[in-house]
Amino acid sequence: MLSIKTTEASEILKVRLDILRKGMTLEDCHFSGDNDPESIHFAAFDSDHIIGCCTLTVNPQSMIKDSYYQLRGMAVLEDYQGSGIGRKLLLAAESKLIELGQKVLWFNARTSAVGFYQKYGYQALGNEFIIEGVGPHYKMLKEIL
Ligand SMILES: CC(C)(COP(=O)(O)OP(=O)(O)OC[C@H]1O[C@@H](n2cnc3c(N)ncnc32)[C@H](O)[C@@H]1OP(=O)(O)O)[C@@H](O)C(=O)NCCC(=O)NCCS
Repeated sequence: MLSIKTTEASEILKVRLDILRKGMTLEDCHFSGDNDPESIHFAAFDSDHIIGCCTLTVNPQSMIKDSYYQLRGMAVLEDYQGSGIGRKLLLAAESKLIELGQKVLWFNARTSAVGFYQKYGYQALGNEFIIEGVGPHYKMLKEIL
């Protein structure tokens, strides 16, 4: 039975490790701001097993005035990819932001995932850039209200 719930950062580190930080350590899977009070962590559960996650953090260096929250660490375990879980996580994050009165969501998307976000109305901005140790990315943004 699939469900999406908010959770603590510590609960989703293993999924980040398995999908986004392969070959690294759990320590490498902490994001700055993970434990800030504004941060919101979402987990996708298959029964009681966490199979996907994403995080909303407040980034003080937001690139435009209204883009207060940044999406980070979107990941779905390989065996579960392609079955709609990423979509559910993204929609859960958007719903929470709408509830909070936020108008814009932005993030740095892996180039390999740009097509996923485009399906849900996000636009890539500017040129591709490299995040050291992770790879090529695009900034993406959507007005959610
Ligand atoms: C990218 C990711 C989060 C998507 O989650 P998912 O559960 O596999 O995706 P879904 O099953 O919800 O897919 C929803 C739609 O997006 C499409 N899609 C999924 N991944 C895609 C990708 N990388 N590129 C283009 N389209 C993609 C699916 O085909 C599906 O389309 P459809 O509705 O027309 O059938 C997941 O594949 C993942 O964890 N990938 C590795 C880590 C990663 O790249 N994370 C993003 C970092 S920015």
